[in-house]
Amino acid sequence: MSINYTDRIPNNVGLSDNRRLQRALESWQPNYMKWWHEMGPDGSTDYDVYLRTAISVETDGWANFGYVKMPEYRWGIFLAKPETERVISFGDHRGEPVWQEVPGEYRAPLRRLIVTQGDTEPASVEQQRRLGLTCPSLYDLRNLFQINVEEGRHLWAMVYLLHAYFGRDGREEAEAMLERHSGDADRPRILGAFNEATPNWLSYLMFTFFTDRDGKYQLAALAESGFDPLSRTCRFMLTEEAHHMFVGETGVMRVVQRTGEVMRELGTDEPERLRVAGVIDLPTVQKYINLHYSVSVDLFGQEVSTNAANYFTAGLKGRYLESRLDDDHRLTEDLWPVYAVRDGQIAVEELSALSAVNERLRDDYIKDCQRGLDRWNRALEALGVDFRLELPHRFFNRRIGNAAGVRVSPDGRVVSEEEWQADVSRWLPTDEDMAYVNSLMQRVIEPGRIAGWIAPPVRGIDGKPWDFEYVRFN
Ligand SMILES: [Fe+2]
Ligand SMILES: [Fe+2]
Repeated sequence: MSINYTDRIPNNVGLSDNRRLQRALESWQPNYMKWWHEMGPDGSTDYDVYLRTAISVETDGWANFGYVKMPEYRWGIFLAKPETERVISFGDHRGEPVWQEVPGEYRAPLRRLIVTQGDTEPASVEQQRRLGLTCPSLYDLRNLFQINVEEGRHLWAMVYLLHAYFGRDGREEAEAMLERHSGDADRPRILGAFNEATPNWLSYLMFTFFTDRDGKYQLAALAESGFDPLSRTCRFMLTEEAHHMFVGETGVMRVVQRTGEVMRELGTDEPERLRVAGVIDLPTVQKYINLHYSVSVDLFGQEVSTNAANYFTAGLKGRYLESRLDDDHRLTEDLWPVYAVRDGQIAVEELSALSAVNERLRDDYIKDCQRGLDRWNRALEALGVDFRLELPHRFFNRRIGNAAGVRVSPDGRVVSEEEWQADVSRWLPTDEDMAYVNSLMQRVIEPGRIAGWIAPPVRGIDGKPWDFEYVRFN
């Protein structure tokens, strides 16, 4: 399972033994590089960045740290080690050996799952491409770039599957990955959240907390797949993804920490005074949470979904930690609570667990998000600040599913359009809030210095101090 770095495309899948596939990927590579130069991190080409590069897929010690120019990052194809005698753990094929090839009858849905996942990876690089110009510190700049190269690698991971297992259709889909662009009017990315702008670092930290976490749950569900190459690909992606969510959780924590410190120092919770002091007032942080959470919650799709039920029954996409769940793993008899709007109120109904697997994954996600908020709130408590951050109701600001088109307040009341319009400026960032946050975004790149709106991290990367020279400009 060792990674071959002598090949043009680093890999642990024996690429050199498969000339046809190797040639196909080598002909996709220049298109990828062209995309990276055009749509990747702005102005970063000549920087030396202290990055981790995967050197094995073992659970500990898989990464190597060192200065790399980003266009020279070794993007490659890494699958987690195969589990011996792995069997499908759910659906109609439960107990059967996993598939090493795509079963003919599942070709279309599997391709669709892979394309949908793959499309999100370059999308986030596009969304984040200008953030480097306003980084709050070198440490943060380095983390941004680390995430960007790894999202690029995740695209490689999905493109490998398309090329290796889906023939001509797969090659066409791989090309299209580089042709759709985030927010493009003609050829947008597939999912809504990946067409939203990430205009400033607060949005980015929220994105890595909330939207990368959606990625974690989608990858975990695909890691259960009966199609073993997909499972192994996703399992290794998850180890990289953990860092992205770490950046989000600690990043928002540092914003909250800094604001809380200044609140204590000045003895005030007045947003105007805090803004004069150059920090992000907590009501504004709350509005950004409301926005990014609601957009990310949409990514789980319809509460009741025939597609999701079919994916499950076919053994293509499971639940979170499927094999650890204590039930029959077929869900033909089981029920699951599902939120719906009935007679102008939010109700919970017991529906078929099989058609509610999206909702179940969303439930797992929501619990995970709440853990992060609890940590941020403990930091506020420790600072003696009364304010508490909250997740809005899952139906707040939704565009997909049972609450699409229904106005729901953050505390879970169905409200009229008038009420919504009257209060939305307290619930979601206003143009003024965004302009204020944007005004704080000034580039800080001297080692040991950091912008005033965010606290320094508790520790650095790879055992280095936080003020280490993580990026060298040439
Ligand atoms: Fe990713
Ligand atoms: Fe990610």
